[in-house]
Amino acid sequence: MRFKKAEVEIVESPADVAERAAEETVTLAAACIKEAGRFSIALAGGTTPRPYHQLLATKHKDAIDWSKVIVFFADDRAVGPTHKDSNFRMAEETLLSRVPIPGGNIHRIEGEHGDHVRAAAEYEQTLVRVLGPSGIVDLVLLGMGEDGHTASLFPRSASGQKNGAPNSLVIPVEAPPTSPIMRRVSFSYAAIAKARVVLAMITGSSKAGRLQEVLVEEGELPMQRVLRERTGKTLVIVDTAAASIIAEASKN
Ligand code: 6PG
Repeated sequence: MRFKKAEVEIVESPADVAERAAEETVTLAAACIKEAGRFSIALAGGTTPRPYHQLLATKHKDAIDWSKVIVFFADDRAVGPTHKDSNFRMAEETLLSRVPIPGGNIHRIEGEHGDHVRAAAEYEQTLVRVLGPSGIVDLVLLGMGEDGHTASLFPRSASGQKNGAPNSLVIPVEAPPTSPIMRRVSFSYAAIAKARVVLAMITGSSKAGRLQEVLVEEGELPMQRVLRERTGKTLVIVDTAAASIIAEASKN
């Protein structure tokens, strides 16, 4: 199903979402490595990516040349790598410790030193040093919160988001008080817009109403803005629970 600039694929379950995302990742990685000798990926946080990571570390492990993979994080909380709320920790446990990626190819957001503004600037320097001045990542993984946030880009009304310079690739964010950790570092809208491919995984009935709003209506929710600003391939893979409203609407 095509919405605005996003291709939406509805599959049955969260496991099917993970499988399809893993298949897409394997295909893109092979193409990027053949074309450029490397594949850069920015991982998402939250809980949805867990089964996807686990599939990449097991069923699909041998389908990717991990020595040519470069890992970034689309966002992280300003905590240490072993903190329970660290996106890096989740990725390390479910994927990175289980595949042969060279240690120097894993670029963690180092936000634990009490200055997330500086951490954002340093991460942007890393992105540009590794990928070149454009900072274009081959694949950016995203999730979506029930409020329509993605990465650590929150609705304006809800966060003291400092978007940095208009062309910043990485920004410091003060997330809403409802977040487990308020100080965060995130890819900017510009960084996500220029990614070669964006792949969003959204599951669960709690996201259904927001997904319909994001895909169908105009607005300024972060995921609406991300989809609006995309020019490259944007795939939104959802389960039937998250798609319950858009699927109903498409019948009419
Ligand atoms: C974060 C994530 C965030 C996440 C959404 C969805 O650091 O919190 O990057 O954007 O993708 O909140 O989270 P779930 O996958 O847990 O629903």
